[in-house]
Amino acid sequence: MATEMGTNNTILVTGGAGFIGSNFVLTWMNSVGTPLVNLDLLTYAGNPANLAGLEGDSRYTLVRGDICDARLVKSLLKERRPRAVVHFAAESHVDRSIASPEAFIRTNVHGTFVLLDQARAYWESLAPEDREVFRFLHISTDEVYGTLGPRDPAFSETTPYAPNSPYAASKAGSDHLTRAYFHTFGLPVLTTNCSNNYGPYQFPEKLIPLMILNALEGKPLPVYGDGKNVRDWLFVEDHCSAIRTVLEKGNPGETYNIGGNSEKANIDVVTAICNLVDEMRPGLASGRPRTSLINYVADRPGHDRRYAIDASKISRELGWKPSQVFEDGLRRTVEWYLNHSGWIENVRTLAYRGWIEKNYAERMTVGGAQ
Ligand code: NAD
Ligand code: TYD
Repeated sequence: MATEMGTNNTILVTGGAGFIGSNFVLTWMNSVGTPLVNLDLLTYAGNPANLAGLEGDSRYTLVRGDICDARLVKSLLKERRPRAVVHFAAESHVDRSIASPEAFIRTNVHGTFVLLDQARAYWESLAPEDREVFRFLHISTDEVYGTLGPRDPAFSETTPYAPNSPYAASKAGSDHLTRAYFHTFGLPVLTTNCSNNYGPYQFPEKLIPLMILNALEGKPLPVYGDGKNVRDWLFVEDHCSAIRTVLEKGNPGETYNIGGNSEKANIDVVTAICNLVDEMRPGLASGRPRTSLINYVADRPGHDRRYAIDASKISRELGWKPSQVFEDGLRRTVEWYLNHSGWIENVRTLAYRGWIEKNYAERMTVGGAQ
């Protein structure tokens, strides 16, 4: 039988060099401040420069590695003895999951399985009092619930799973594995399902940063379909505060929906970005407003029409509420991108340019500004 060992105050974060992970690591260091190990493969979406401010901080360690590598995960758990795992690492872009689904199954499904399985072995080796406090927090998405009609009630924790994209299906698979490790083995897991995030450090393949950069540079703004798909936007720091709340107060085995009560049609988000960029950087060469750059292009296959989150459970049971309204959060986000041209140049690698070329060249323009 394994010797019982203790944990310490360290947490193991996966995917901490990505968009939400970076914001989580930075806000963790500023608020909780206990040691944090960041296991990240540094794929195209992972950028250690996001965390450059933590260089030389003895509380922070970056380990470049793959969550699918069971030996690495095992040795990290054994050596660093975390009290919790906070699992962000994933392939996260729906359009890429349509172009090349395999990496999504590998990281999101198999990688989550490897982490759960190693966490289970580690947890079983702990002394009873440490087993009691250990948590595995799995970060997931509202996309696992599928799509809503205009008058349907928002997704709650009991909405049946109906994923429509390879990305959503891979996240649904990881959620089911997480649930199974609680029910079968008793591993103290928590799952959060969050709506669309926006804010600093988001890779400019996603709607909001892509539109900010294109608007700034006077490039076409590619709106899929009729632009009336609805997303429920949450400022990334609010997501991070929700995760800290669930980690601290959530009940093992439970799932919590997280959202910002901020449903917007894509075209309204793009128009708001145009107006903010016009205000902050007047002077498109044509003399026309940035909305003139809006370009309706071929729709995403299987494009979910509407997402909306009912976040009443986390509010009622754990006392969490978002603090940022969309208009203020969007203004902060546009300002951040306008003030971080070095960061933008850094992420616009050859591979990034190749993706943008592939995704948009293949979409036939179906109409201009309306
Ligand atoms: P992201 O794509 O910006 O970052 C993903 C990170 O995971 C990157 O740092 C990448 O290097 C790392 N990674 C990828 N494969 C890995 C592997 N095999 N091993 C180790 N690290 C690996 O993603 P994000 O937008 O920050 O999303 C983080 C999590 O939150 C994901 O699980 C995603 O499903 C979930 N989520 C995202 C949103 C959103 O709007 N962005 C909303 C709800 C939930
Ligand atoms: P995205 O940021 O990819 O997030 P998700 O697909 O996970 O919701 O897209 C948000 C919405 O914006 C979605 O309805 C697709 C749409 N969209 C565009 O209209 N044009 C684009 O160039 C992109 C990337 C997204």
